[in-house]
This record gives sequence, C-alpha cells and structure tokens, in this order.
Amino acid sequence: MSFIQLKNVTKFFSKTLKPAVDSLDLSINKGEIITLLGPSGCGKTTTLRMIAGFEQPSTGEISIDDQQVFNDRHSLPPEKRGIGMVFQDYALFPHMSIIKNVMFGLNKWGMREKKKRAKEVLELVGLEEYATRYPTELSGGQQQRVALARALAPKPHVVLMDEPFSNLDAGLREKMRFDVTNILRKANTTAIIVTHDQKDAFAVSDRVVVMNEGVIQQIAAPKEMYRCPKNCFVAQFVGKTNLLDGTMDNDQRSIHTHIGKVDLPEQWKERLENVKLSIRPEGCRLAKEGQYCGKVERVTYGGEYQELYVRLHSDHMLSKEPMIIYAPIEQDVEVGSIVSFDITPELVALVE
Ligand SMILES: Nc1ncnc2c1ncn2[C@@H]1O[C@H](COP(=O)(O)OP(=O)(O)OP(=O)(O)O)[C@@H](O)[C@H]1O
Ligand SMILES: [Mg+2]
Repeated sequence: MSFIQLKNVTKFFSKTLKPAVDSLDLSINKGEIITLLGPSGCGKTTTLRMIAGFEQPSTGEISIDDQQVFNDRHSLPPEKRGIGMVFQDYALFPHMSIIKNVMFGLNKWGMREKKKRAKEVLELVGLEEYATRYPTELSGGQQQRVALARALAPKPHVVLMDEPFSNLDAGLREKMRFDVTNILRKANTTAIIVTHDQKDAFAVSDRVVVMNEGVIQQIAAPKEMYRCPKNCFVAQFVGKTNLLDGTMDNDQRSIHTHIGKVDLPEQWKERLENVKLSIRPEGCRLAKEGQYCGKVERVTYGGEYQELYVRLHSDHMLSKEPMIIYAPIEQDVEVGSIVSFDITPELVALVE
C-alpha cells in the first residue's frame, strides 16, 4: 500500500457552493516529493490542511503509514499524525534562539536528546553555526531552513509545506528550491509541497499534481507533464502552448489542422475524428525551408529565447490565432518578416 493515501476526499465549506476539493484520489510513496500545483483557490491549501488534520473532509478517507488518520468514524488529531509543517511565513518564535525554535517540537524528549537532535537537523540544513542567533538576525532563506529543521526534528512521517518559496526574491528562490530538495532527500523524508508556481513544482518534485477547481487534472513527473499534458487546462497552465483543432489521418500518425499536417510522436491507438493538439513553442524550430511558414507579428525577448507570434498561411488562408514559437536569441527576426519552421513531434500532444 502507498505510504500516504487519499481516497475520494471531498470538502464542502458550504452546502450551496461547489466543493473546495472534489473526490480527490492520491497515492504517495515513501520518500517521494510531491507538489500540488494550481491556480489560486483550486483547493491546494485545503488538501494540505486535511492531510495535516487542521481541516476535516466532508467525506473520504486518509491514511498515513498504514494508519487511517481520517474516515467517516474517526479523525486523528494533528499532533498524532506524525506531520511536520512548514508555514508560508515560517512562524518562527522571535523571542527564542534558533536552537530553541528547533527544540520546540520535541517536548517529550529528554533535554540531552533534544539538544542532540536539534544540532543534528541544524547541521542538516547547514546552520549549525547559527544556533544561538535569533530569527530576526537571519536572512529569509536561512529562516526558511530553520523552519524546515524544526519540522524535521521530530522525525515526522511527512513534511507539509505551503507556498514555501513565495516570500523569497527570484535569486534566493532558485537557491532555496535546490537547498530544500537536497535537505528533504538527505533526511529521506516524504514531502508534500503546495505551490502555484510551475517552476517551483518542476524543480523540486518527483511528481506534480495539477489541480483546478478542486479536481485533480493530472498526476505526472515534471517532464511527462510538460511533454504530454492530458488536457487543455494542463497544457496551458504548465508553460505556454499552441492549441489547434484537427482530424486524425487514416494511418493515425498525424493530424490535419488549419496550418497543415502535424506529425504525432507515435502512432495513436485509435482513430479519432475531432482532436485537439498542444504544440509547445519550443517544438517549433526555425528552418530555412521548413514545412510551415508565416508572418512574424510580434517579437518578445524572454531572456533565454525570443518569443515570436507568427500568423501562418496555409491553403492561402490566414490562421485565426498567431502561433507562439521560440527562437534562439542570437537569431535576428524582424516584425513583418516571413519565417519558416518545422515542428518536433516529441513536443506535440493530443489533449482532451
Ligand atoms: N475556511 C474556509 N471557509 C470557507 N471557504 C473556504 C475556507 N478555506 C478555503 N475556502 C475556499 O475553498 C476554496 C479553496 O481554497 P484553498 O485555500 O484551498 O485554495 P488554494 O489553492 O490554496 O489557493 P491559493 O493559491 O490562493 O492559496 C476557495 O474557493 C476558498 O475560498
Ligand atoms: Mg493556498
């Protein structure tokens, strides 16, 4: 059985509104790092709080390490669930030194064990030299590592983190993604991280759970999620994409669209009449005599690449929507010029 399991978990805050979380099924393996990713209000925090025991599901079952912590008959209180929680604002006690903050969750331990364990986790997060300082004397990233050390100290079954990176500026955020993942891996702990930022989710997790309006849209490893989004919502929420309507060819290897024929990465299992395609902008490569061509309407510099908005003409018809194509930064592309490109089938996906 999975280490953490949610079965058909639903949460209504009000009888008249749609549920905040709707029939959620999720299985998490021991040692796995999972992120819940989705737009504001999609039910991420509510899901996390139900796992922690701060919120009661309306229906469903939750188990952690083979123990049912919630079902329709009983609910284990949060302190008995073996959960380590890292809050968005870190929630460190300002009047306590760093080591006291870390020892706080270890009430039941003897003083010597407490100190030993606190030193151990401070070392794990690389802050052993800061033990006697106070939270206000640390940077944002350091405070976050203290919060993580405090959560890890009692050796919880699982660490839950709600928007752990949202208070950090861009540079520190990138470093902390790396640090937090390293620390969680070294501690060999299972973790569930909530974020609305795709880059956070992709950088830290083994698997990403994309949610929308309380419903899981897809569960997949980052690369698979990006290359094979299941539906239009995931394709658009996780990165940018071009969505096209089409009809499948008889050999089930390509799709006829208004921009022409687009090849699929592999032969599709059944022939479908009306389909939707997601083509990633990186999947379109400028080429001298490419299969597709169109007029550049807009160029935006994205830093690592240029984003071209290209209106295609095929069968002497102009497409309704321009396509987004990424071009290398060293290439000069003028607005109004005609470009031609090919499409990499590996970045084409059929979506629902
Ligand atoms: N205590 C509450 N009482 C009533 N409604 C609530 C309560 N908590 C959350 N909700 C509602 O449940 C839905 C899901 O909220 P939740 O906080 O889980 O979203 P979220 O995905 O964490 O969003 P964000 O990214 O903005 O933090 C929202 O519509 C929210 O208004
Ligand atoms: Mg939230």
